[in-house]
Amino acid sequence: MKTITIYNIKGGTGKTTTAKTVATGMAMGGKRVLLIDLDPQGNTGKSFIFQPDPMDLSVYENKPQQEKTECFITNYLSQKNDKTICDIFHDPNSIKEIIRSTDIERLDIIPSNLRLSLIDTKIRLSDGRQENYIAKALRLVKSQYDVCIIDCSPVKSLLTVNAIYASDIILIPITIDDDSKQGLAMTLREVKALEELYELDIDFRIVINMKQRTRIQDETVRYLRAIFNEKLLNTVLRYQSNPITLAALKRKTVLNMKESGIASDYRCLISEMEAFL
Ligand SMILES: Nc1ncnc2c1ncn2[C@@H]1O[C@H](COP(=O)(O)OP(=O)(O)OP(=O)(O)O)[C@@H](O)[C@H]1O
Ligand SMILES: [Mg+2]
Repeated sequence: MKTITIYNIKGGTGKTTTAKTVATGMAMGGKRVLLIDLDPQGNTGKSFIFQPDPMDLSVYENKPQQEKTECFITNYLSQKNDKTICDIFHDPNSIKEIIRSTDIERLDIIPSNLRLSLIDTKIRLSDGRQENYIAKALRLVKSQYDVCIIDCSPVKSLLTVNAIYASDIILIPITIDDDSKQGLAMTLREVKALEELYELDIDFRIVINMKQRTRIQDETVRYLRAIFNEKLLNTVLRYQSNPITLAALKRKTVLNMKESGIASDYRCLISEMEAFL
């Protein structure tokens, strides 16, 4: 099993869209895929799992205020909640109980939720090693999957350190603007620092996302290619809002919708990335 972490310190560059689409496409193409949502916002998981989380207040939306508060507090106190990625940071051996299947054959998922935002502090306060919870857990399921894809939040934390530590390759989606260059530089610096600190051998690849057909963006692509050579993937994901938005609304990916340019771009990205497996 190869582990690919999708990460960029800059927010909104298409990490979640790419994680969901690549995971779906690889599974549709015959690979056994485990998709891990490592963002406390839980959006990746919500696209594939429709069961309400009892800790999520919106589940009680139609109940009177008093009842809503009581249900929430009772559930909170009894910790009656679904298994999520948070459990791995309490006990990496619990991974098999956390994995859920999806409607897509060969695609399994480990969901996340807001409680994940508390885990960074929990790790910091714990004794012993802080970087290897995910790596330890994945070792237990590596024979069951061809690839594990981890969707990170843009926040630098011990969660992302755990993801990077467990990875063979980091995929960095970037958009073409000035902030994005700074985000890319910071992301690369972090990966390099962790590689040195833990003596890892991690590769990285960059993919341009939301590319518009302007002269200035074409020039930037040429200049990035000259700097990064093979580290910059050949596939360039175009800006195409409608299919992406529609797919997200329907909790699908562009690969399961009417044919579009961005679906075709993602198919190219998937075949480029399959070369790393
Ligand atoms: N190729 C594309 N064309 C147009 N819009 C896109 C494209 N890819 C992603 N988007 C849109 O950009 C927004 C950000 O995408 P996404 O949530 O995947 O980014 P992210 O990097 O995961 O964000 P965050 O850092 O907040 O986790 C979303 O509204 C998404 O629909
Ligand atoms: Mg995201």
